[in-house]
Amino acid sequence: MLSQQVNHIPIDVARARKDTPGVKSVLHFNNAGAALMPQPVLDAIVQHLQLEAEIGGYEAADAQRERINKVYQSLGRLLNCPEDCLAIVENATRAWDMAFYSLKFEPGDRILTGMSEYSSNYIAFLQTQKRSGVEIEVIPNDDFGQISLKHLENAIDKRVKLIALTHVPTNGGLVNPAKEVGKLAKQSGVTFLLDACQSVGQMPIDVTEIGCDILSGTGRKFLRGPRGTGFLFVTKNMLARLEPPFLDLHAVKCFARDGYEVHVDGRRFENWETNYSTKIGLGKAVDYALAWGLENIENRVSLLANLLREKLSNIPGISLQDEGEKKCGIVTFNTKKRSAEEIVQRLNKKRINVSVSRVGYSIDMHERNLADLVRASIHYYNDENEIDTFCTAIESIC
Ligand SMILES: Cc1ncc(COP(=O)(O)O)c(C=O)c1O
Repeated sequence: MLSQQVNHIPIDVARARKDTPGVKSVLHFNNAGAALMPQPVLDAIVQHLQLEAEIGGYEAADAQRERINKVYQSLGRLLNCPEDCLAIVENATRAWDMAFYSLKFEPGDRILTGMSEYSSNYIAFLQTQKRSGVEIEVIPNDDFGQISLKHLENAIDKRVKLIALTHVPTNGGLVNPAKEVGKLAKQSGVTFLLDACQSVGQMPIDVTEIGCDILSGTGRKFLRGPRGTGFLFVTKNMLARLEPPFLDLHAVKCFARDGYEVHVDGRRFENWETNYSTKIGLGKAVDYALAWGLENIENRVSLLANLLREKLSNIPGISLQDEGEKKCGIVTFNTKKRSAEEIVQRLNKKRINVSVSRVGYSIDMHERNLADLVRASIHYYNDENEIDTFCTAIESIC
């Protein structure tokens, strides 16, 4: 297992943009939706599809077996974990679900979560409440708008079976203090499930340092991989104890008419049929991110996002909505003059991509009294000129 390479060389933006064909056609501030893929990732996917067309899908997978296996090594380097603790699936939700629905809950057990939990996760808590009688407790935020560690510590008791936290929410620049939550979880022996869907690829993520037992992530967002890819990390300790909600002949080591044995590694959470071209593309995206260095990526992303926040805050009528002591590459805002939907559509006509962060996506929107927000998400291949163009467009629209 190789740990992440840490260097402090600034990003060569010209090279990053040269590697990114999409920057010629669009101003892309929708990296939290799906980032623009770099050329090497696109090439890896297309090459494998071509091979499938030329020699057959099964034969292409056999021919590329070593390369496919290396995708797990790459992810292991990215997250600092052994490769056999990983599963590669269709998206982050499926990864999260496979782990969450493997956990056993009794009536009266408690699940603790944060105010900015992703709604799909919360729906799973509600379903589990209905099925198993668990109690769900949403821990309030601290003054910075991130999960309050004091409240979390006070809420932990013998009945708490899970702490589930969204690291970076879908609807803002907040970075929840995952490492500190991991420490509290470990102290009390509670399972810690981290949704790192919006953080992985834009900052270093080290599962050992964070101390999470389970982590889910996606390929298409800040990792710049293809759509339809996600992954799951589960500690070795937990793996053997988690029987997935679905099993197939890929997930089991062997079976007979009267029983089966599940694989001891992350494969137990996968299924047999998969898209090998995008799996290879995911591996390439991870290698590509590692080659830039995740610290370098984080530094540039926060520099650009802070610049964008500063410039937006100078536009009359614009209200920034990002919370947290530490903020990342997601910048959300609104204005009384136009709806988020209208702003996004008008920007789209100018070939500027951002997205709408809808009220239903995160559980805190109602409590924060917010309607839909405009979400601009920056990556390291974006540049200062794009920020100026974007702010000029926002000024003229709003
Ligand atoms: C915080 C968070 N978790 C999970 C997901 C789901 O990811 P996926 O679409 O890959 O299932 C998202 C998607 O936007 C998200 O923002």
